[in-house]
Amino acid sequence: MTQPARLAILASGRGRNLEAIQAAIDLGDLNAQIVGVFSNRTRAPALAFAREKGIPADALQPKRYADRASYDTALAERVTAVAPDWVVLAGYMRILTANFIDRFAGRLVNIHPSLLPAYKGLHTHTRVLAAGERMHGASVHFVTDELDAGPVIRQGHIHVKPDDSAETLGDRVMACVERQLYSTALAELINGTVDYRNNAIYRDGKPQQEPPNACYDTTSSSQHNA
Ligand code: GAR
Repeated sequence: MTQPARLAILASGRGRNLEAIQAAIDLGDLNAQIVGVFSNRTRAPALAFAREKGIPADALQPKRYADRASYDTALAERVTAVAPDWVVLAGYMRILTANFIDRFAGRLVNIHPSLLPAYKGLHTHTRVLAAGERMHGASVHFVTDELDAGPVIRQGHIHVKPDDSAETLGDRVMACVERQLYSTALAELINGTVDYRNNAIYRDGKPQQEPPNACYDTTSSSQHNA
């Protein structure tokens, strides 16, 4: 087996995606090592999880920097110092500057809780319910200068239930889709199944027309079918 890929994780919140990535590594499903966790919030549970696991964890407080550009320069230096192969946004809720994105272009990925290109931005679960959508899910994509608009590597969906609230829907997207989806997509990047060139995704060497979009309904027999 080749050397484990080095992952730098950026997280602002609860860290459920971070935990799921670490679990996939522990299970041997992902040939990777988390070499640093970085947050804009000192109290982010994601940092506590990382420290418990012995992963170097670092908080950079925005108020200590003059502006977004100097913040992102400092962040990029810390991230570069851990020599990552991949920079993984896992619930990182701060807009990144073009300088940061360009510095890690092609190895900077994000998970977003919607079936992109639908529902970019915030409050996706509430907006999906308000629109009466029947399906919802999450997408893993490369990060480009345009928010939530980079090429999608893979998606997963569930069906919205008639009695779903934003909270129950968000919890199911996390538990059923996100927890599996990120490590699946990362494994494809690490083992070379998926490749990113000229702002386009190649899967098994061929241009990817549509990202795989598996159903993750726990009651559905089509679960994990893509
Ligand atoms: C996840 O649902 C992730 O998709 C979302 O934040 C949550 C973080 O949860 N990210 C975004 O909305 C980015 N635009 P976690 O901290 O428990 O992984």
